[in-house]
Amino acid sequence: MYQNMAKSYHHIRQNYGKVALVESEMPDNPILFFSQWFDEALKDQLPDANAMVLSTVYQNKPSSRVVLLKAIEQNSLVFFTNYNSRKGREIASNPQVSVLFFWTQHERQIRIEGRVEKISEEYAEDYFISRPLESQAAAIASNQSEKINNKAELIQRYEHILMEADSIKRPVHWGGYQLIPHYFEFWQGGANRLHDRMIYELTDQNWQISRLSP
Ligand SMILES: Cc1cc2nc3c(=O)[nH]c(=O)nc-3n(C[C@H](O)[C@H](O)[C@H](O)COP(=O)(O)O)c2cc1C
Repeated sequence: MYQNMAKSYHHIRQNYGKVALVESEMPDNPILFFSQWFDEALKDQLPDANAMVLSTVYQNKPSSRVVLLKAIEQNSLVFFTNYNSRKGREIASNPQVSVLFFWTQHERQIRIEGRVEKISEEYAEDYFISRPLESQAAAIASNQSEKINNKAELIQRYEHILMEADSIKRPVHWGGYQLIPHYFEFWQGGANRLHDRMIYELTDQNWQISRLSP
């Protein structure tokens, strides 16, 4: 039915340029600048401001998915997931990842690249038990990224776990990662496609700031 389907989206054009990125106001530490932009996103209640596209590379093939940023800790970005998931397996073989935020209302894109490490068991435990019981049960019921026969099977497992709520424990394969960045790009939409792109690169423990052509 969709053979030879052709649709053009050339007519979609968005003009940017609400705000400019002022270089002189950028701090030496990109995490500080990131948290400044993040606070602005939260203040304006941007939808899913903490949703970031996480890309991993396995055997030279990239794959992407959304995860939620849950904390900034000691200059790293923390997210939670299942270590046995596809992303978990890919990270185990290659800890180099990138994350991407796109906040359309603020005309901002942030690209961050770095290496991920598992967070401590204690940290994973603290976060796991802070989640609603239903989320804890779902985390246990779901063998994330594994094929399943049908949804009923999953729901049955979930309900069974919830019924025995007293014995819910964090599975060892559920935890989190911290992304230790070595590259940031802050993109601010500009008028007539003359966007601002400022990057921070880590060399010899120092962050170097440069401007890129849009
Ligand atoms: C808005 C949004 C937030 C999500 N947050 C998370 C998250 O924090 N952790 C997580 O493991 N998956 C999260 N997911 C689901 C992932 O995108 C993905 O489907 C899942 O982690 C399995 O990915 P994988 O098979 O590549 O490992 C989220 C999805 C969306 C759309």
